[in-house]
Amino acid sequence: MTGCLAKLTHQTMTQTTPPIILTGDRTTGPLHLGHYIGSLRARVQLQHEAKQFLLLADTQALTDNVGRHQKVTSNVIEVALDYLASGIDPEKSTIFIQSQVPELAELTQYLLNLATVARLERNPTIKQEIQLRGFERDIPAGFLTYPVSQAADITAFKATRVPVGDDQLPMIEQTNELVRRFNHTVEREVLVECEAVLSQVTRLPGIDGKAKMSKSLGNSIALGATPDEITKAVNNMYTDPNHLRVSDPGQVEGNVVFAFLDAFEPDTQKVDDLKAHYRRGGLGDSVVKRALNERLQELIEPIRARRRELEADKGEVLAVLKRGTMRAREVAGATVAEVKSALGLNYFD
Ligand code: TRP
Repeated sequence: MTGCLAKLTHQTMTQTTPPIILTGDRTTGPLHLGHYIGSLRARVQLQHEAKQFLLLADTQALTDNVGRHQKVTSNVIEVALDYLASGIDPEKSTIFIQSQVPELAELTQYLLNLATVARLERNPTIKQEIQLRGFERDIPAGFLTYPVSQAADITAFKATRVPVGDDQLPMIEQTNELVRRFNHTVEREVLVECEAVLSQVTRLPGIDGKAKMSKSLGNSIALGATPDEITKAVNNMYTDPNHLRVSDPGQVEGNVVFAFLDAFEPDTQKVDDLKAHYRRGGLGDSVVKRALNERLQELIEPIRARRRELEADKGEVLAVLKRGTMRAREVAGATVAEVKSALGLNYFD
């Protein structure tokens, strides 16, 4: 009941105030088509409608990359290149580096007092990641508490909308819990609740048919992929293993080529026709793959070209990040000042 009420108040609130968007990516590698379809494409559109902050989450990436800090730091520029090459306009979106905004660490410190270890251990995403990384015996404290740091990322900007993949929903839920708890504690509406914005295609499968595309699984197509790399990836895509002869009826469900066509081919009639023909039999994998390959080449070509141009001028990219980071510090600093004064930590005012 209270949950419903909280949601209603929140909705009324976001209707009257213009949305503020914050989202970001861990800087562990260049971005791929899964990122593009899951959130990047939406961000390019949203930047025209709202104030948007894009976070290069190097601090968060360090929480499970101890000893691999070089990988984390070198990919800051790679992810920034992917943003800019995909159409993020630094005049419209503020791109910034998490580690260079100390106000975020400061806010994290205050929010940490409002989260319990038990609650953090119950976070489904954390639970899964602990298993995946074999952290069961020795969970780094920084890793266990990264959802609180993520709550600081979001609330420092008073973000109301957070475009993310569905694996991030537990983070949003925990952020809103912290917001309510903080505001209740200081008896003031200082922090703002947010809502997740999910894209229609939330998860692109890997080219091998695994549920998720991921660079570390080696089943991804990078946004900067060369024409050959794209063709090779499409040719290697998992289809219907029982579709042996062209004349055999084929299965569309679980067939990666069709999953990609659904995600990337805007001509839905064309996709429906291909699917019907495939199901009936008489349509070879190579024909469907050729259609997808053409579409992906068309999509990636301008991104790759723009990326190459920007790569040649890394100084300018760094300047963009520096400007964005300075802007981000101002906004986060104002929120932290409010938070501190609500807690009575404003001794010198
Ligand atoms: N957790 C996100 C990821 O794994 C990155 C991230 C860090 C983020 N802080 C955020 C996303 C704040 C949205 C909002 O990619």
